[in-house]
Amino acid sequence: MSPLKIFQSLLLFSLLGACVGDKILFLLPLASRSHVHVFEPLMKALGERGHEIVNLSPIESKNMSPTVKQIQLITVDDLMGKIPDPFEQRKLGTFRAMINSSSVEHIHTGCIKLYENPQLYEILKTEKFDLIIVDVLLNYCVLGMIPHFKAPSILVSTFAAPSSLSAIFGNRLQPSFVPCVFLKYTDQMSFLERLGNTVLDSFFAIMWDKMIIQKSEEIYKKYLPNGYQLPGVDKIQANSSMLFMNSHFALNYPRSLLPDVIEVGGMHTRPAKKLPKDLDDFLSSSGKDGFIFFSLGSIVKAKDMPEETRKIFLNVFSRLKQRVIWKWETESMPDLPPNVKLNKWLPQQDVLGHPNIRLFMTHGGLLSTQESVYHGVPVLGIPIFGDQDLNVMQAESRGYAKMVEIVDLSEEKLESAILELINNPSYVQKAQALSKLVKDLPQTPLDKAVYWTEYVLRHKGAPHLRSAARDLNFFQYYVMDVAAVLLTALVIIIYLISCCCKTIYRRTCGMKSIKTVHLKKE
Ligand SMILES: *[C@@H]1O[C@H](CO)[C@@H](O)[C@H](O)[C@H]1NC(C)=O
Ligand SMILES: *[C@@H]1O[C@H](CO)[C@@H](O)[C@H](O)[C@H]1NC(C)=O
Repeated sequence: MSPLKIFQSLLLFSLLGACVGDKILFLLPLASRSHVHVFEPLMKALGERGHEIVNLSPIESKNMSPTVKQIQLITVDDLMGKIPDPFEQRKLGTFRAMINSSSVEHIHTGCIKLYENPQLYEILKTEKFDLIIVDVLLNYCVLGMIPHFKAPSILVSTFAAPSSLSAIFGNRLQPSFVPCVFLKYTDQMSFLERLGNTVLDSFFAIMWDKMIIQKSEEIYKKYLPNGYQLPGVDKIQANSSMLFMNSHFALNYPRSLLPDVIEVGGMHTRPAKKLPKDLDDFLSSSGKDGFIFFSLGSIVKAKDMPEETRKIFLNVFSRLKQRVIWKWETESMPDLPPNVKLNKWLPQQDVLGHPNIRLFMTHGGLLSTQESVYHGVPVLGIPIFGDQDLNVMQAESRGYAKMVEIVDLSEEKLESAILELINNPSYVQKAQALSKLVKDLPQTPLDKAVYWTEYVLRHKGAPHLRSAARDLNFFQYYVMDVAAVLLTALVIIIYLISCCCKTIYRRTCGMKSIKTVHLKKE
């Protein structure tokens, strides 16, 4: 380290020093694997800056500094073992899958299992925290720990927050140009789309509340010490200091944000590192035709896909000039063509950053689409559930992706989409242009998240950022009460004027006509 660097870091240390060594709770015991991946870089960075961290997560994160203490109260298998088959759910249609309560049941059962672990009560009794950072969308049933510890909190939304969440911060999202997370709309909507967007946005907020939030609240009130005295989910969220959203204005659509709603999208993106030798050999020797990377993510198990779908993929792959590296959970397939290689686990960003890559076939999870943009790789999106349709739609509207539907997939559809993406240079050009855009920021998303986390610590919850809009209800926020009064006044005025006019008319015109009648008579 040069003397200048040492001086700089000392200066930074003393400037920010006030809060280094704070105690932070990462609260995500019910998170899915990809949610955990959103948090890991922040946890690591804060740990390395000397903060003492307790991480309640279903997955043990690797390479953390010694100041990060990790506690697994339940495992990811306890949690995800019982989710219904995503391929079957997809057949029901996105909408029915969304409102099917069996798709969220595992969260509640996982939560009760969590509260049955005595280790939790030890933590609740002995620990104190300066800040709680929570993966809000899957962890409502532990939100009661925030008032229990009486600490400021930062809520993290693992995707661009649904409007019901950001509304709690006084940041209502306009349904006129912000599409609801679960709809396939872009920011340019026709009248009918805006109508649908407005209605369904509210509908999903109500469904979410009925399916997840109410039950979660009941659970923590039952199990936490003095739980029945704890405030409800609404009150706890409304007292939160900040909302971090895993979104980026160049990828998700631009929207208006208050200063306590911070976009930190792409915290986990990073340049590629060297691949393991056998993998590198297979990909590097793919020559000028390059290779395709196919992964359906960590929740969906590719091996569970219907046999006929697997055949479609395999037949199309066997006709391609490109090599294919496929994330697949068993050792082998009997009919595997020589240009296809299976792998149970792949370092996704290192594969995406390989110079020979031509195409990324993905389920379109947010982290995957962010990574493909960061590394400038075109995308063939095969969405299965949740926000994946929206992510792929957005990618399509940005011009670097195409979507295929897995439920009615055919060899022709798949092959023509793959060939189009590989042979038409516009897709890779768009992806590379976007890659430049997402990297052109005054500070990296991770530095930004670290800065604002320490800001909340330095300013004891930063209450000065709180917008008065948090206390306004829907009618007040949209000045509907004022509009109603003004409209009423207008109606009264018009009524009075029209009455007046009638009277004047009768007096003047009426007289005239009487006069004319008289005149005619004479
Ligand atoms: C909900 O999902 C389950 C499991 O996949 C399925 O058996 C059930 O029919 C679904 N219910 C509705 C109303 O779609
Ligand atoms: C609101 O949060 C602050 C910390 O930012 C905490 O001291 C206070 O007790 C909380 N109030 C309620 C009602 O939860």
